[in-house]
Amino acid sequence: MGIMVGEKGAMMAHIDRYAVFGHPINHTKSPRIHQIFAEQTGQALEYTAQDVPAEQFESAVARFFTEGGKGLNCTLPLKELAWNYATNKTERAQLSKAVNTLAVQPDGSVLGDNTDGKGLVTDLLANHKISLSGIRILILGAGGGARGIIAPILEQCPKTLVIANRTVEKAVKLAAEFHGKGFITGCGFEALEYQQFDLILNATSASLSGKLPPLPIGLLATNGSCYDLAYGNELTAFVRWGIENQALKSLDGLGMLVEQAAEAFFIWRGIRPETQAVIELLNSERQNG
Ligand code: ATR
Repeated sequence: MGIMVGEKGAMMAHIDRYAVFGHPINHTKSPRIHQIFAEQTGQALEYTAQDVPAEQFESAVARFFTEGGKGLNCTLPLKELAWNYATNKTERAQLSKAVNTLAVQPDGSVLGDNTDGKGLVTDLLANHKISLSGIRILILGAGGGARGIIAPILEQCPKTLVIANRTVEKAVKLAAEFHGKGFITGCGFEALEYQQFDLILNATSASLSGKLPPLPIGLLATNGSCYDLAYGNELTAFVRWGIENQALKSLDGLGMLVEQAAEAFFIWRGIRPETQAVIELLNSERQNG
């Protein structure tokens, strides 16, 4: 927080401004989450949501920063555009080819980061006590959602990481980009027959419309868990699939949402908020309709 001198010479508090840009944006929980983080950590800031169609992205971001905005979150369908916009990028953003967090640096340049993968891994490890090291992991989907989580997952040294996708070539190509960072392969859904995984992550956009990719019986190992990157007020189709297939835990992406926000907050403010209470609050709100 800086201090501005007002018209009459009085000292006025100047509030740092942040926002989330997306299209559509009406259901976003980000302003709420960041408001709670700000109160919890005693930081004075403003965080708003703006509906920004892709074709207006560049001008909207430029205007926001010119008018003194300090940082932005970018959500669908703007993450690739944000990647292009950023002057400098973190390594994890480079690898994911998508940026969900923009931060103005002291020299005026704009740093692009991607906190989605870190958010997912933190939710799995810290909140759900699901260790990724030495286990067999399957990611369904090979789009932007999948790409953003691969490097942070491989850092945890799973035994294997398989990317399965409807369009097989996309899965094979995506896996090839990460060769050398771990044991990772790409395939189609048919190739999953007779395979078993300890953790299955759903990163297809099919989830948003309540659809599921075709998954063979027995795909989930005994005591395995499921995680849908998407979330909603109702159980997603994939979370239901996990429950029907006796998953130890069948989770949706609400925790990941809060954790990626906490990571963005840390980038902007240099302070790490507590996430557990926020996740519990959002969870109880949706359970109560
Ligand atoms: P995102 O950035 O959200 O990942 P995307 O890049 O459009 O969005 O990728 C969407 C992913 O969901 C892709 O893996 C897509 O499969 P294809 O590459 O074959 O298109 C997958 N997907 C979308 N609808 C699907 C469906 N009905 N069944 C299976 N996979 C689906």
